[in-house]
Amino acid sequence: MAILELVTAPDPRLKLVSQPVPEVDSALKKFMADMLDTMYDANGIGLAAIQVGIPKRVAVIDLDPGGPNSFPRYFINPRLVEASGEATNYHEGCLSVPEIWDDVSRPSRVTVEYTDEKGRLQTVTADGLFATCLQHEIDHINGLLFIDHLSKLKRSIALRKSAKMKRKG
Ligand code: NI
Repeated sequence: MAILELVTAPDPRLKLVSQPVPEVDSALKKFMADMLDTMYDANGIGLAAIQVGIPKRVAVIDLDPGGPNSFPRYFINPRLVEASGEATNYHEGCLSVPEIWDDVSRPSRVTVEYTDEKGRLQTVTADGLFATCLQHEIDHINGLLFIDHLSKLKRSIALRKSAKMKRKG
């Protein structure tokens, strides 16, 4: 178990398209446990591998960390197979864009195919916060940040603020 160093914008690694994971082995399981520790430590609800500098198609999610519904979920090679429902706005934030939150519009329901931590192929249909979070993490895996969904002006303000935070930290 270890806390890994978070990569924050405008680090160019966050724009990388992550690589598929060929198999679920003990090294990957240890890495995902470290990702989860890192996410809990930073008070996040989702984390993609590239956010700790590893360009692998892996994400972890827990929608209620420390709460009664806390449940760690592991997504290996997640793939959006369907997006439906009305678009909904969520006030999103990201551990890689500290201190910035803004509304992002995304489909309210998604179906995602992925491999779980035991190497089994799974399909999940999610709505609400879970659907938003899955889309946010799959975006990371494809080199996108939530601020890429905002206007150019809002994005440049967010990036300037994030870079400033980094110099202070
Ligand atoms: Ni994020």
